[in-house]
Formats: sequence, structure tokens, C-alpha cells
Amino acid sequence: MTKTSFLRTRFMLAMVSLLLPAFMATCSGPQPLARAIVPQDEQDYIEMMSTADQTPAQAFLARRAVKLGVSVEEARQRDNALSNNKNPFKARHDPSAVSRGAVIYKHECMTCHGEKVDGRGPTLPVPLKSLNFHRTGLRFDITMRGGAASKWFKTIRAGTEVQAKDAEGNPITIKMPNYLDRLSKEQVWLVVTYLQSLDADIPKNHTPDSAHDIPTL
Ligand code: HEC
Repeated sequence: MTKTSFLRTRFMLAMVSLLLPAFMATCSGPQPLARAIVPQDEQDYIEMMSTADQTPAQAFLARRAVKLGVSVEEARQRDNALSNNKNPFKARHDPSAVSRGAVIYKHECMTCHGEKVDGRGPTLPVPLKSLNFHRTGLRFDITMRGGAASKWFKTIRAGTEVQAKDAEGNPITIKMPNYLDRLSKEQVWLVVTYLQSLDADIPKNHTPDSAHDIPTL
């Protein structure tokens, strides 16, 4: 390789490494779960969870305490001080938060909510249309415009249930567990950030009643 072409390659690589994060920040959604997740974030999560008998919240707070050089109790208090109403992360501008949230989604929520976040997870007795997070007519007003982030935050911490019908038409109740103790507040905000990222590329002037449904991924 000549010196000029070497320098040119170096220059191109530098440009790519500068531009790629900016590019990712502007198009963080909607995207398949696997693309939202940075593999290193999932490895970190699996490693964090490898100590037996820890909830994700306990593992997260223990790790946070070490990082901050404070006691686990102090880390818990700081986590508790996070807002219940305002997401500290920005789905449109923080692909790292989207990725870490997507990892939590994959390990805690996907079995019901589905790999495509469409309400078709394998452990739900029947698919739930209400849980298709890609239907913008249904979602847009409450995600990008309204208070869905804090509503979701509360639902995830409190759990919920819905009446549905099984394949034979018999009424059934499908429950979502509460994550009050299982996830730290920061973890709940991260997973909410991932859910918000599914709407992140909808144009600002989009109206929910215009027939613009995001295709299911
Ligand atoms: C055992 C199955 C199950 C698991 C696991 C589960 N959910 Fe749910 N989730 C449900 C059901 C059922 C509903 C209620 C659906 C309805 O009301 O139509 C629901 C509702 C929700 C809603 C409210 C949706 C809305 O329309 O406002 C959110 C947000 C949510 N879940 C997020 C999560 C997240 C995040 C996780 C993982 C941390 C999770 N869920 C884990 C079954 C589950």
C-alpha cells in the first residue's frame, strides 16, 4: 500500500467512526430487536446476571455501587430518586440507552410481548393486538406526543392484566407481572426508551389519523 492510500484509508476509517454514531443517533428506530442491541451490551447483561439468585435490579445496583464507589444502599437511594414521570433518556438521541433497554426487553419481556414487539410472544395464550407497538395510529399520540412514557413506566412497575378469549372463545385473563422489585427504576426507564425508539423515526408532522402504520418488523 502506498503512503497516500494508507493515509486515505486511515482518513476514511476516521470519518466512518465519527459519522457512524451520529448516523445511528438519527435513525434509532424502528428496527428489529437484534439490530437495536449492541452485542457488548448483551454480554455485559449476561455477565451481570451470572451470579446466582439475583434479580436484575439487585445485579444492576450492585454493579452501579462499585462503579460509583458507594454502598449498594446509596446506589438504591439514588435510583429511587429518579423521576416517575420524566424519562431521563432520549430515544431519538441515545442509541446506547436504546440498546441497553432492548437487552432488558429481550431477557424480561420478549416471551410475552414478542420478538417483534407485536404482542405475539410464545408464552401468551393468544396473540394480543393491543400489544402491537408498531401501530402508529394507536401509538403515536401517546408515545411521541403524549404521556405514554410515564404511563408505561407505571404499568411496568405495577403490572397489569387484560380479559381476552382463548382459541375456543372462552374468556381468559392474561396477566403481566409487576417489575417493582425486579427492575431498578433506571432499568424500567431504559426498557421504556427502547419501546419509544420504535416510533422514533415517525416524521414530526405525522398525524395519527393519516393511514400510516409502521409495517411490523
Ligand atoms: C407474562 C406476560 C408478560 C410479560 C413477561 C410482560 N408483559 Fe407487558 N403486558 C402483558 C399483558 C397481558 C399486558 C396487557 C395488555 C392489554 O392491556 O391489552 C401488558 C401490557 C404492557 C404495557 C402497556 C401497554 C399499553 O398499551 O399501554 C407495557 C408498556 C408493557 N406491558 C411492557 C412490558 C415490559 C417492558 C415488560 C418487561 C419488563 C413486560 N411488559 C413483560 C404481558 C406481559
